[in-house]
Amino acid sequence: MKKGLIISNVIFVALTLVLGYILLFTGTEMIETKDTRTTVKYAPDLRDLVMSEMRDYLEVINEVHQGMAENNPEMIVKAATRQGKASIAETPARLLKLSPLACKQMGFAGHDLFQAIADSAKVNYNPKTTTKQLAALTNNCVTCHRVYKVDYTN
Ligand code: HEC
Repeated sequence: MKKGLIISNVIFVALTLVLGYILLFTGTEMIETKDTRTTVKYAPDLRDLVMSEMRDYLEVINEVHQGMAENNPEMIVKAATRQGKASIAETPARLLKLSPLACKQMGFAGHDLFQAIADSAKVNYNPKTTTKQLAALTNNCVTCHRVYKVDYTN
């Protein structure tokens, strides 16, 4: 009887140790990443700048859609102008230096597309044109997101 108790205790302790080990030390290192994007390294302040610009892109796209829903071209012009040609001029030279060429090209293409949305809504608003331009714009976002990710240099 005593022997049986000892054996079951030993089994219990062993099981607890195995489960504890699995819980604490396995899992994370078993995840394989399929992330093959190229890392672009920016200083923290540049990364913050780029990411807040990205969030504004999304806001502008949302305002353009809202303008279309309300049949309000002025709202579209105002929103899209914010990320149009004028914002290229505000790009710091440091950012351009650290960005790969293809990344810069897609960045500029995006601002041109925002500007085109603003211009055509101003001159002769046509929801079909705006929809096509938005498709071209978001295609540019998607293409860049597939290729690049951003990291800090420290
Ligand atoms: C030149 C390349 C490029 C273009 C063009 C681009 N992005 Fe990004 N975007 C990135 C990168 C790189 C990240 C960071 C991804 C990462 O590190 O995982 C990012 C991140 C973001 C984020 C997350 C921001 C945060 O705070 O973390 C949003 C939102 C975003 N992009 C929206 C957009 C939208 C909308 C467009 C198109 C109008 C767009 N982006 C166009 C490269 C681009």
